Amino acid sequence: MPFYTKLGSMPRQRHVQFRRPDGALYSEEVFGTEGFSGPTTTMYHIHPPTQVDGWKTLYSTKVEFVEQHVMRMRHVKTGGQKPAGDWVTGRVVYFGNSDCEMAVCVPREQMEYHFKNGQGDECFFVHFGSGVCHTMLGTLRFGPKDYLVIPKGVIYKVIWNERINGRDGTPADGGPPIGDMPYGKFLLIETTNGSHIGPPPRYVSKMHGQFLEHAPYCERDLKLPELPLTWDERGEFEVRIKARDCVHSYVYHYHPLDVVGWDGCYYPFVFNIDDFSPITGKLHMPPPIHQTFEAHNFVICSFCPRMLDWHPKAIKVPYNHSNLDSDEVLYYVEGNFGSRKGIEVGSMTAHPQGIPHGPHPGTIEASLSATYTGELAVMCDTFRPLLPTRAALETDDSRYPASWQGEHFPGLSSGAMHLNGVSAAGSAAAQAAAAAAHKPEASNVWAPQGTTPGSAPEHTTKPKTAAGIRDGRKAASIPAARASGSSKATSRRRAKRGKKP
Ligand SMILES: [Fe+2]
Repeated sequence: MPFYTKLGSMPRQRHVQFRRPDGALYSEEVFGTEGFSGPTTTMYHIHPPTQVDGWKTLYSTKVEFVEQHVMRMRHVKTGGQKPAGDWVTGRVVYFGNSDCEMAVCVPREQMEYHFKNGQGDECFFVHFGSGVCHTMLGTLRFGPKDYLVIPKGVIYKVIWNERINGRDGTPADGGPPIGDMPYGKFLLIETTNGSHIGPPPRYVSKMHGQFLEHAPYCERDLKLPELPLTWDERGEFEVRIKARDCVHSYVYHYHPLDVVGWDGCYYPFVFNIDDFSPITGKLHMPPPIHQTFEAHNFVICSFCPRMLDWHPKAIKVPYNHSNLDSDEVLYYVEGNFGSRKGIEVGSMTAHPQGIPHGPHPGTIEASLSATYTGELAVMCDTFRPLLPTRAALETDDSRYPASWQGEHFPGLSSGAMHLNGVSAAGSAAAQAAAAAAHKPEASNVWAPQGTTPGSAPEHTTKPKTAAGIRDGRKAASIPAARASGSSKATSRRRAKRGKKP
C-alpha cells in the first residue's frame, strides 16, 4: 500500500539494538521490494527468520492452458464447482497468462499449515463466507465481498468460520447449501509476473501517496492488520512456500508468526467492495471508473450497485465496444447484470481483444427506464491474451459467442414499440411515417436501395464492395459516402493544395 503504518513494538530507530525480555536481541528483517527501491517493511522476530529446515517439493502448480490459438467469447460457470482441498490446494485456475492467473476456490477443509506465496501477490475476492487471516504482520478479519490482498512473501494461515443454517433451514448468509459450500468461496487474482497489486497511481498523490479526492476509496476504507500479531511457541510448524511454480514444504522450529512489531508500506489489507464509491455520470462512464487495483499488465475493477446515467435520453447499458489492447474477464457476484442475459451468480465471461461486445439483444430498450443497477461484479482486464484452462472448458457455454444474435429491438417488429409516438408496425403509411421520424442524416448513411426508406431514393449507384465505402477515391461515386467520410478527405486534399475546403 502507498502509505506508512506500524503495529506492535519496535525500537525508536532502525537497525539498532532491540532486546527481548530475556535480554537476547530480537531479529530484525527488512522486507524489501523492487530490489530495495520499492515499498519496504521492517519487522522484528522473536527468532532468527533464517532458522528453517527440511525443505521438500510437494506438488507442481504449473497451469496447463488449452485452446491457446482459439479466440472466442467464453462463458464459464463456476456455480457448480465442487468443494475440494483447502484455501490453497482447492484453487481451480480458469484463465491466466504470464502476468496473472484467475482461480476460484470452494474449500472443503481448513488449512493445517501456514502458507507463503513466494512468487506473486494474491488478491482474493471473498464471494461467500467469513473468517480470520492470521499473518506475520497481524490479523485480518474478512467476510463476504471483501477483497483480501496479501503481498508476496507474507506468511499466513486462514481459519474459516463454519457456515450455519438459519431458522428456516437454509444458509443464514443466503448462499448455496452448506453441503455444496462448507466454508465459503473466493475468486483469486494472482500475479505471475512478479509485480505488486495496489491502487492505481492516479488515485494517489505523487508527492505523498495520499489517496486523492477523486479516488473511489481512500485510507479510511482499508482495513489494516490488527492484533493479535505474535505467537511465541516452539514446536514443529510446516510452512508451505509457493515458488518456481511448485509448492514446497519447510519446517520451522518455532511459530512462523513470531513478529512482535513492524512498520512500513508493505503489508496485507482488506477492502470491502461495498465501500467502493462508484463514479457516475450524466452519460455512460467508461470502464476505468470502476478500477480498484492494478499490477503490471492488468487491472482489477469493481462493478458496484449505483445510480444510472441521468441524461433524459441516456442509454443505460454499456455501448458496444472493442477493448483493442485488452482481454476482459468478468466474475459475476450478484444482482441483475443489465447488459447480459443468461448470466448466473458465479459466471465468468471472457471477451478477447479484437471482438466487439456490448448489450445483449433487447437489453438496451429494457434498461432505458431504469435509474439504478444492483449489479455486482469483479473484472480483470489484461494487456496480454488470457488463456483458458481445461477447467474453464469443462463448464464453458459454447453458445455464448452467438448470444448477441437475434433481434435487438423486438418491440419494433411486434408493434409494441413506438418511434416518437408513431407505431412502427401496421400500415405502410405508419411505417413510412416512423421511418421519416427517424430519418437519419441522409448524407451520412448508405444502405442498399429500399432497405432504408428514408435514404433509399437518394442512391442510384450501389458500390460493388464494402471497400468502396472505405476507400476515399472510390467513394467519390457513392453519394452518401462522398457526403460523409470522403467529404473530410476532400477537404483535407483541398486544404493541402491551398484551396478553400
Ligand atoms: Fe467490455
